[in-house]
Amino acid sequence: MTTDALTPETRTIIVTGGASGVGKALVGRLLDAGHTVVTCDIDEAGLKDLAAAHAGRPLETHVRDVASHEDCDAFMDDVIAAHPEVDGLVNNAGLYLGQPVWEYDDATIERVIAVNVKGPVWLSRRFAGHLLPEKRRGAIVNLASVAGEVGSSDALYGTVKAGVIGLTKSNAMNFAPYIRVNVVSPGLIVDTAIADRIPDYRYAEYKRQEQLDGDIRPEYVADVCVYLLSDASRTLTGALLRSDNGCYPR
Ligand SMILES: NC(=O)c1ccc[n+]([C@@H]2O[C@H](COP(=O)([O-])OP(=O)(O)OC[C@H]3O[C@@H](n4cnc5c(N)ncnc54)[C@H](O)[C@@H]3O)[C@@H](O)[C@H]2O)c1
Repeated sequence: MTTDALTPETRTIIVTGGASGVGKALVGRLLDAGHTVVTCDIDEAGLKDLAAAHAGRPLETHVRDVASHEDCDAFMDDVIAAHPEVDGLVNNAGLYLGQPVWEYDDATIERVIAVNVKGPVWLSRRFAGHLLPEKRRGAIVNLASVAGEVGSSDALYGTVKAGVIGLTKSNAMNFAPYIRVNVVSPGLIVDTAIADRIPDYRYAEYKRQEQLDGDIRPEYVADVCVYLLSDASRTLTGALLRSDNGCYPR
């Protein structure tokens, strides 16, 4: 059956990388709003802590690696079997190593591409393959970065995040009119494992570039994701929304 909109009663949302940072904040925001959340991460201990923090709430955690095609398929098999009503996907899991391109070996290049681009491709394809045959409405939100728009001192990271923006616009076309696909482009998000890996001189440059005062916290980026999952953003697809305190005006 075709529905006009996502309704609160039917919201079941997949969030990858829910064990820390933006993913963890987003899981909390979505549960607070009454949604069911299924998350995966490679950080088993982090997932256990997350589950304990939200005990008794509709949250499922899976230890899965989005860089593995087999894991993505097995994860989606499990989600679709247990939650055929699933109607949201947030490709949040990301890997940033903060190193110059000459320090990369081939295996690490493959890993960064797989986590940041291949995983979202595989998961989006399975998600759309589940909803589109029945003409069901849904929303995908991808996490890119200012690095994907203006470049990065880590060339691999700049490359994959530009790829996420391209994937978003292309999947928006592919999955229309039923699944909206949008992308969030954050600046430097404090209290994340990724922020801890940014070289000191780049950290200072990012902070200097911000026009607004106050830090960009994981919860604030999660708020933009919540908006893009919700009916409030019903006219947006293929859109890039920033959560960056106005850094690197572009
Ligand atoms: N932190 C920043 O400053 C910043 C800036 C711009 C964009 N981003 C993007 O925002 C998203 C969230 O990042 P964050 O800052 O919360 O980072 P984070 O490192 O705090 O959290 C990322 C989560 O993804 C998980 N993860 C990593 N590889 C995985 C894999 N192969 N399979 C499953 N899970 C995996 C990690 O274990 C972790 O729990 C990422 O896509 C990141 O690239 C972050």
